[in-house]
Amino acid sequence: MQTIALNTKSRPSTVLCGAGAAKQLDTILDGKDVFVVTDENVYGLYKDFIAENFGGAPVCVLPAGERHKNRHSLFTILDKMLQARLRRNSTLVAFGGGVVGDMGGLAASLYMRGIHAVQVPTTLLAQVDSSVGGKTAIDHRGVKNVIGTFYQPEYVVCDPLFLRTLPQRELKCGLGEIIKTGALDAKILDKLERNAERFFDFSFLEEITADCVRFKAGVVEKDECERSGLRKCLNMGHTTGHALELFYKRRSHGEYVLIGMLLESYIAEKFDICAHDYAEELRALIGKVLKRVPRFENIAEAAGLALYDKKNQGENEVSLILPAKRGEFAELRLTDEDYIGSVEEIAGGLA
Ligand code: NAD
Ligand code: GLY
Repeated sequence: MQTIALNTKSRPSTVLCGAGAAKQLDTILDGKDVFVVTDENVYGLYKDFIAENFGGAPVCVLPAGERHKNRHSLFTILDKMLQARLRRNSTLVAFGGGVVGDMGGLAASLYMRGIHAVQVPTTLLAQVDSSVGGKTAIDHRGVKNVIGTFYQPEYVVCDPLFLRTLPQRELKCGLGEIIKTGALDAKILDKLERNAERFFDFSFLEEITADCVRFKAGVVEKDECERSGLRKCLNMGHTTGHALELFYKRRSHGEYVLIGMLLESYIAEKFDICAHDYAEELRALIGKVLKRVPRFENIAEAAGLALYDKKNQGENEVSLILPAKRGEFAELRLTDEDYIGSVEEIAGGLA
């Protein structure tokens, strides 16, 4: 197990990563007034674990899935926190994937203006990305993550133990964020290329999770609240990914991120941000996980939702974080017309 420190101005956060991390929950939560948030799938699989490891704490079980990442679920959590008479020194444990983590983190940051939070991510995507760094959110009126806070959890406990029950499709979603991190960090990219046949091997996933967490912690320490622009790099592939996710709703976040990265790699080439060979290298890695690009109806309308992206600064402008060279990224701002036209042309060529 590795211990990774994430020190921001707001609050220090400690990430425990690797086999055996969950055993530390005993010590982390010792003497604490605990409240658990999870979803129905995770509860079904880990009811006994929850009873044994969270000391009989009250459990708020939410319906699973992105479509429930909304104000109704948020207020369900807050109502249950009030019923459980939580106080400012209570600890909310978010036990689940990124949806539970984002909503649990938001509730912890709002209740009494902030109580302690611990993230126990149970999906690969949540372990390599969403549980670390303190972004919390719900979706609202069709806009992804539009209501949220920056609120660091005191601990994040990433144990590969939980990945054993994860469907392969969900592992692929996590691999999407791992490949994204590889496009930002040359050492991680080298490791991914050397181990491309081990993407579904749990010992490899354990090792690469710690690498990704360490990389993300370094970025978040430098730009916790996405002010300087550095943290935006973690959004590579997400402008297009989020737009397609909101419009089509059929697949999960991680799959749309993979598709977003694929489409945006062609945009990077088209606008001379990235050389063809490097774009092909990234596409080869994406292809190890994403076997087929679906055919998208009304893609221009879907791409139009990128105008709601939080990175955009001007009206009718779409901001993209694109791969430039190994370990380097660049931000490209396109007019909506250029962006939508490019996505339409590229997706049409792939179908
Ligand atoms: P998710 O939370 O919906 O989990 C995916 C599915 O796996 C769900 O059905 C869930 O019930 C199930 N599941 C969870 N753990 C399981 C386990 N151990 N075994 C079997 N099934 C399990 O989705 P996700 O991919 O974990 O997270 C996606 C969310 O994360 C999106 O809402 C996205 O916006 C958010 N996100 C946030 C950040 C951030 O920095 N805060 C970063 C990336 C993504
Ligand atoms: N996943 C994007 C971020 O944490 O900033």
